[in-house]
Amino acid sequence: MFIHIVNQEDRTMIYQLALMALALVMGSNGVTGVNICSGVADNLFLPQVNNCSAYNLCIGETAIQRVCPSSYYFDAAEQECLVAEEVKCLPTCPTTGLSSFGYSRTCNKYILCYGGASVIRQCSDGLQYNKNTDRCDYPQYVDCLSNLCTKYDDPEDIVYLASKSACDKYFVCLNGFPTVQTCSNGLQYNPETKLCDFPSNVNCTVETLQRNILPYAKAPPRSADITCPAKGTHFFAHQKRSDAYYYCQDGRGVTLDCTPGLVYDSKTEDCREPQFVHA
Ligand SMILES: *[C@@H]1O[C@H](CO)[C@@H](O)[C@H](O)[C@H]1NC(C)=O
Ligand SMILES: *[C@@H]1O[C@H](CO)[C@@H](O)[C@H](O)[C@H]1NC(C)=O
Repeated sequence: MFIHIVNQEDRTMIYQLALMALALVMGSNGVTGVNICSGVADNLFLPQVNNCSAYNLCIGETAIQRVCPSSYYFDAAEQECLVAEEVKCLPTCPTTGLSSFGYSRTCNKYILCYGGASVIRQCSDGLQYNKNTDRCDYPQYVDCLSNLCTKYDDPEDIVYLASKSACDKYFVCLNGFPTVQTCSNGLQYNPETKLCDFPSNVNCTVETLQRNILPYAKAPPRSADITCPAKGTHFFAHQKRSDAYYYCQDGRGVTLDCTPGLVYDSKTEDCREPQFVHA
């Protein structure tokens, strides 16, 4: 269908859509075009990677860049610009080695560091970044909810969030942070009613396993057994294993392992649950 006549209202809308698309492009970073605001509540502020004086306001999963007044830095925990000395900025990548750190307040994004270079990564399908293992993990091992609590608490509309790791726990957003609460007397949190309830009314199950995963930063990087492109950031499927992949940075490559149970997906360039991976 062709639209021949564009009226003023349409023009305004097209203009707004163009602005949104622009903001989306500006909000994306890294090789895979990660939208930093995806999965983040409206009115949440995110830090800017590698620049503590800048930050982003997320509205409708779109990032709007802001800058702190001079000599102020953005504090992700406080959700505001504070005197620089008092602020805990996002880390910057060490000049050597392989490591990662969480992208504060996103729960599913992280910064992967190799030899001083940084790339923003995103966990798919509800997986979350686990700082203890340096990689995407099942939510029950992370239980991060700080992407859903903003500083704008509405007493008329309190935000309750079910825990991902324990059936008898839930969170209330308070001053921009999830605050843990526990149901007593063997009751479990019921997301439908937002109340503690008899287990038979909730049917909550959380599967956890004993695991032993060594974070990347705790072991010497294992070089990739492929030839990496001389320039840029690239991710490739492992030649022999489905649960591992290669990360190439300017000609140097390392082998990264998925969390047990996950497999690498070339489309998202990270590890996912096998049922979501389509070859
Ligand atoms: C940080 O971002 C602001 C706003 O985009 C910019 O003016 C400033 O130069 C940046 N600082 C650094 C160190 O890149
Ligand atoms: C919980 O499971 C039981 C048994 O499978 C079922 O009868 C009941 O309807 C379920 N309750 C809810 C709230 O899903």
